[in-house]
Amino acid sequence: MDCGQRRPAFLYFTGKCLVDMKILGIESSCDETAAAVVEDGVTILSSVVSSQVEMHRPYGGVVPELASRKHLEMIVPVVSQALQTAGIDKNEVDGVAVTQGPGLIGALLVGFCFGKSFAYASGNPWIGVDHLEGHIHSVFLSSPSPEFPFIALLASGGHTSIYYVTSHTIAQCLGQTLDDAAGEAFDKVSKMLGLGYPGGKVIADLAATGDPDRISFPRSFLDKNAFDFSFSGLKSAVHRYIQTHSNDYKDRIADIAAGFQDAVVDVLTYKVMRAASAKGCRRIALVGGVAANQRLRERVRRDAQKSGISVFAPPPDLCGDNAAMIAAAGYHHLTARGDGAVNLNADVYSRAAYTRTNIASSGRLAV
Ligand code: KG4
Ligand code: ZN
Repeated sequence: MDCGQRRPAFLYFTGKCLVDMKILGIESSCDETAAAVVEDGVTILSSVVSSQVEMHRPYGGVVPELASRKHLEMIVPVVSQALQTAGIDKNEVDGVAVTQGPGLIGALLVGFCFGKSFAYASGNPWIGVDHLEGHIHSVFLSSPSPEFPFIALLASGGHTSIYYVTSHTIAQCLGQTLDDAAGEAFDKVSKMLGLGYPGGKVIADLAATGDPDRISFPRSFLDKNAFDFSFSGLKSAVHRYIQTHSNDYKDRIADIAAGFQDAVVDVLTYKVMRAASAKGCRRIALVGGVAANQRLRERVRRDAQKSGISVFAPPPDLCGDNAAMIAAAGYHHLTARGDGAVNLNADVYSRAAYTRTNIASSGRLAV
């Protein structure tokens, strides 16, 4: 194939032709061991996710030490399966992208060290990828995908932020949660209602059978012109409701779920629409585990349509943690950087590196 016809800007990268470039992505930041092979940042050749949910369920949340041990057990079989499903040998990988942070340190270290070793041993280019930037790239793994610039609402179990995304490697964080993440609020309310962990899908399914207007929970918009979030007050309001109706709240559990879900969805929808309007942006992407929520998708689509804004969201299986999104983000960083030497000193990080407060100086979401 004539590479020059398709990609004149970066024809060859460390001696490899960049057309049909297969990136092995690895993700282990929390409770999913995942590996994927993605071609040219868009085509998924394989995506394997080994979930630890069943192991953590009895504890009502992720137990970090158990998560690390399970990643150790699963990393080799998961990567092997990803290569096998993609129909390639480890020598046919063109680059390795692995989640560097944020996440649980012990969990991150398993995938990160494996990815570095794999790249070093196979002589492949390597890059550490920011997990949040990976989520943003999940929107490029299905069709149609947005052109730049676009507003991304990233709502997951660990993070809730709004970004103004101007290229594959540059995004500005406009706002973020000041306390709980949206997914975390779903998980905690589910636990309060005795519905188990994780709570997002359980609450959403239950909410579909309830009346969202029967019980009104507070919406915390904070500064209506800013893009920060707060979900801890809503969580406390649900807790108070359960306490004051301890005799009969179980009869209204579907209405509680529906009322709570709508309170979250109202705030997320308002803020993402406000961000699009403030930036004069005609495209919105919904990413992260909470983006699988149908009510959220419907509400954002309904409001966006009125303003002539297009909404993009990956299929539900790509909203949650996966390695295809890491491979997609890694592809763009590797090709932009033009040097993929394995930095053996590179280390993982637990907290979000690119936030509203420090983004102004760096201007970049990930390095
Ligand atoms: O992106 P993700 O898999 O992991 C993190 O990076 O945190 O997101 C997981 C979160 C969990 O809190 C889960 O309850 C939530 O996404 N979630 C949902 C739904 N499906 C998963 N929240 C609301 N509605 C859903 N359908
Ligand atoms: Zn995630």
